[in-house]
Amino acid sequence: MFTSKEIRSTFIDFFKDRGHQFVPSAPVVPIGDETLLFINAGMNQFKDIFLGMTKPDYTRAANSQKCIRVSGKHNDLEEVGLDTYHHTFFEMLGNWSFDDYFKAEAIEWAWELLTKVYSIDPDKLWATVYEGDQTDGSDPDHEAAALWTKVTPIPKERVLYFGKKDNFWEMGASGPCGPCSEIHIDLGPDMCDRKHVAGHKCAVNSGCARFIELWNLVFIQFNRLGDGTLEKLPARYIDTGAGLERIAAVLQNKQSNYDTDLFMPIIDAIADLTGHEYTSSLES
Ligand code: ALA
Repeated sequence: MFTSKEIRSTFIDFFKDRGHQFVPSAPVVPIGDETLLFINAGMNQFKDIFLGMTKPDYTRAANSQKCIRVSGKHNDLEEVGLDTYHHTFFEMLGNWSFDDYFKAEAIEWAWELLTKVYSIDPDKLWATVYEGDQTDGSDPDHEAAALWTKVTPIPKERVLYFGKKDNFWEMGASGPCGPCSEIHIDLGPDMCDRKHVAGHKCAVNSGCARFIELWNLVFIQFNRLGDGTLEKLPARYIDTGAGLERIAAVLQNKQSNYDTDLFMPIIDAIADLTGHEYTSSLES
């Protein structure tokens, strides 16, 4: 079984072996970025690189970024406490390409790490890609869809198209953005937490705990300007984010992120101090 420390170090080592520079987590209060209250993604500290304002000594990076999502575009306050897999504070594992590799490698390596290194059952994994948007003329990402079945053994029935809400990632009201491709895991029918909702059907992006997003691969190609318009960037970038807590729950065979070794030592200490027994994070 992987401990959370091993999941983190295995991720970083996997990408170091593929030429990535390890970059430490940035402080959660952004330095010199008025558009964000807190760091909400691993890519934040690389924003100026994406915008072509600075050039790093490396073209590939990897890290585990401490993130807070309590405001602005990425606000999970309403989810926390209601499900088993959202947090206001969490760690995002990520790899980046600055005008170096693009979609094929990002997809191939994410699949390899999940299925070969972490040994997640490939039959449980689904992929999603951007379906485009007629209102703004953006194209469906057929390229990413084709790559999924070319560079991984995933069957095409498990590669699905979704719209902007799920498959076009933006860091905030403005800033670098682009279509994205997500990897979701099917944890099985027992994990559905919306059985009581009339008409609910378990599916990718249906909001139930059976299908959980594990990793988001963003193909950054645009900058959203303050007036809302999209400007094409001069180069293409890869920006990925995988939730450490979610991967830990899967690899440690837990039904809730809160039952992993990231939270249990804290919960046990609180139980000791308060004299209250902790039963399960799944009880309401
Ligand atoms: N920046 C992307 C995200 O946060 C990877 O999902």
